[in-house]
Amino acid sequence: MSTTESCPLPTDHYLQPVSLPKFLQQDSGLTPTPEKSSSNQAIKTMPTLEKNPDSDLLPKYLREEGLTQECRELISSLPTEKGWVANFLHKYQGFWHTTRQLQAVLTCQNHFQAQDSDIFLVTTPKSGTTWLKAIVFALMNRVRYPNFKNHPLLAENPHVLVPFLELGLYIDSQIADFTTINTTSPRLFGTHLPLVSLPDSVKNSGCKLVYLCRDPKDTFVSLWHFTNKLRIKDMGENSIEETFDKFCRGVSLYGPFWDHVLGYWKESLEKPQRVLFLKYEEMKEQPKVELMKLAKFLGCPFSSEEEQRNVMDDILKLCSFDSLSNLEVNKTGKLSSGEEYKAFFRRGEVGDAKNHLTPQMMEKMDKITREKLHGTGLMF
Ligand code: A3P
Repeated sequence: MSTTESCPLPTDHYLQPVSLPKFLQQDSGLTPTPEKSSSNQAIKTMPTLEKNPDSDLLPKYLREEGLTQECRELISSLPTEKGWVANFLHKYQGFWHTTRQLQAVLTCQNHFQAQDSDIFLVTTPKSGTTWLKAIVFALMNRVRYPNFKNHPLLAENPHVLVPFLELGLYIDSQIADFTTINTTSPRLFGTHLPLVSLPDSVKNSGCKLVYLCRDPKDTFVSLWHFTNKLRIKDMGENSIEETFDKFCRGVSLYGPFWDHVLGYWKESLEKPQRVLFLKYEEMKEQPKVELMKLAKFLGCPFSSEEEQRNVMDDILKLCSFDSLSNLEVNKTGKLSSGEEYKAFFRRGEVGDAKNHLTPQMMEKMDKITREKLHGTGLMF
């Protein structure tokens, strides 16, 4: 898999975002010019990112104002392409981020202080993050919350109980609010950051990382559905062909997918005490085995007394797709950044890609995967 060579953006021109309704262009703070980019081409001009009063009309995840000088200067030097939902994707440290997300990545890299006891749940988007967060939260807090009929997961979305590092704690502010998670030890965080972009304090600490990945075809299909849900009505849907092409070229949220997975795969081989590498498909096939693996890795294996009380079954039932997706909170709530909780639950199955991709697309993706993973010992 290869990504396109994108041109660095000169700072003295401005770009009109493609295919957005006019009010959106204004909201995003971009100054229009007659120039346009084609969907597959690098964007060659620089967005301006000033606050527009109308931007409050947009869901937060689409807003692009409020960038620091550091971030603006960085963006002007980065390859940039048209985004799937937000206007732009910028390639930073080898991986693609939206403008808003990039600011959060920088803030998090500059400010986050890891503790040795921290646990990071790492995924590429749509690999089963919500499920993993629920399971690890229930696992690590099983003494505090032994009653599965009156459990925080029944009243709150997993992304609130286990916040995203860059996408949650640092998305709005230079100063993260840890008050909600400080009460639990160890602290649990979710992140989509690639290994190379983890804050130094995480890299240099003794904290543990659980990485969950998923077959790229299913991950892509899930991401295509998810991003279409996030596109506001006037934007219309992204075509599956166009986004498939981008995903294959690596131009997707936190992509290239294969580079993301391989970074953590190799780290898990080199440092098995530090990184546990899991697959969505295996969690579906043998959830109890994977849960026991998780518990052992995180230093809290199940006792025989717990096994007799079927605690593992209780955790898996509480965190199952049917259970979580049918909760009132997950049908009606939304993240403070604007994404509806229900967008995180669709089908939760293995192999759904074949219902959306042509045999040629399936083969193309498999070929890329074979080539990228060749000789690494990792397979899908
Ligand atoms: P599908 O779109 O294939 O259904 P993420 O949590 O990383 O955003 O990933 C979302 C994907 O995980 C979606 O996949 C979603 O349906 C699935 N999912 C959410 N909760 C799940 C659960 N409890 N068990 C299994 N899959 C789940």
